[in-house]
Amino acid sequence: MACTKFLTFNNGLKMPILGIGTWQASDEEIETAIDAALEAGYRHIDTAPVYENEKAIGRVLKRWLDAGKLKREDLFIVTKLPPPTNRPHEVEPTIKKSLADLQLEYVDLYLIHTPFTVCINEDGSFKFKADGTIEIDPTTNHVATWAAMEKLIEKGLAKSIGVSNFSKEQVQRILNNCKIRPANNQVEHHVYLQQRDLIDYCKAEKVTVTAYSPLGSKGIAKLNASVGLVRELPDLLDIEEVKQISAGHGKTPAQVLLRWIIDCGVAAIPKSTNPNRLKQNLDIFDFELSPEEVAKLCALDQNLRICDFSFFRGVEKHPEFTFKNKFNN
Ligand SMILES: NC(=O)c1ccc[n+]([C@@H]2O[C@H](COP(=O)([O-])OP(=O)(O)OC[C@H]3O[C@@H](n4cnc5c(N)ncnc54)[C@H](OP(=O)(O)O)[C@@H]3O)[C@@H](O)[C@H]2O)c1
Repeated sequence: MACTKFLTFNNGLKMPILGIGTWQASDEEIETAIDAALEAGYRHIDTAPVYENEKAIGRVLKRWLDAGKLKREDLFIVTKLPPPTNRPHEVEPTIKKSLADLQLEYVDLYLIHTPFTVCINEDGSFKFKADGTIEIDPTTNHVATWAAMEKLIEKGLAKSIGVSNFSKEQVQRILNNCKIRPANNQVEHHVYLQQRDLIDYCKAEKVTVTAYSPLGSKGIAKLNASVGLVRELPDLLDIEEVKQISAGHGKTPAQVLLRWIIDCGVAAIPKSTNPNRLKQNLDIFDFELSPEEVAKLCALDQNLRICDFSFFRGVEKHPEFTFKNKFNN
């Protein structure tokens, strides 16, 4: 099985519409998962330094490339400029560290992970104040950081560059001031947070969109709990309409949720470390949702943001923090 659908960037390069997400997986889990994902036919891998697994992913990629089982150009690797190094002078050293860890010469897509900047301690841990809130750096300058991102293309360290968690206004500010247009905006997108306005805007501006947490990010509950955040999060796989539609196609709720996303012309990067679920998530190209089923799924929108970064307590004070939804309105 392989991902047979691609999104074409404004620079002509293509990204497989389905990839594997890698957040919240240990080194051991991710090594097994990436091996299984490559065997299953995945070629698009989404990671980030804050997931702390680039080295483990790099070990698997090296094994596959050294063994001649894959060529570098067969792969589509995405990583990100983390929130603590969201400053122009940190862009190049930060991507070089990711490339060293991934054992690659270039990444296919490099994203500014968040529109805001947070601070870290000397040991690299996030800097929390005595009251438990995170220290922010309010001086974030997207236009200056973007100029540094553009240099990565000239230097051959990234094939394409983009953003993540950016609002319409933040993307527009870059478009007004760039030499190279962002190729992609990676945002939370699923049936309960459809962000139609943002997605339509990005498409009109030829900025492709990738949906993160497409299955509702069950794993986030553990992270929320670790910072004392108690929150009832929905189970997207248990929504009645989704279950009915999936039964009608002999597919699983996860497959229906993913198919709906790619039919919207948006890429999806579901995370799984389970080989069967990995295969299942890629096996979505052999059925079609009817217009009535699509309408039913579109009607489920609740503007319910699951990954609103409130595990960084106090980040909403950053001038570039824009998320508004049920939980933090
Ligand atoms: N740019 C950003 O700020 C940002 C933020 C969040 C996420 N991301 C990226 O997006 C990726 C995906 O988002 P996510 O990890 O938050 O959540 P997700 O992909 O929506 O959900 C992952 C959860 O669903 C489970 N799962 C996967 N496939 C399943 C299936 N077929 N049936 C039932 N359960 C299934 C996984 O468990 P098992 O592993 O046990 O299968 C895991 O608990 C991340 O891994 C990361 O790469 C980016």
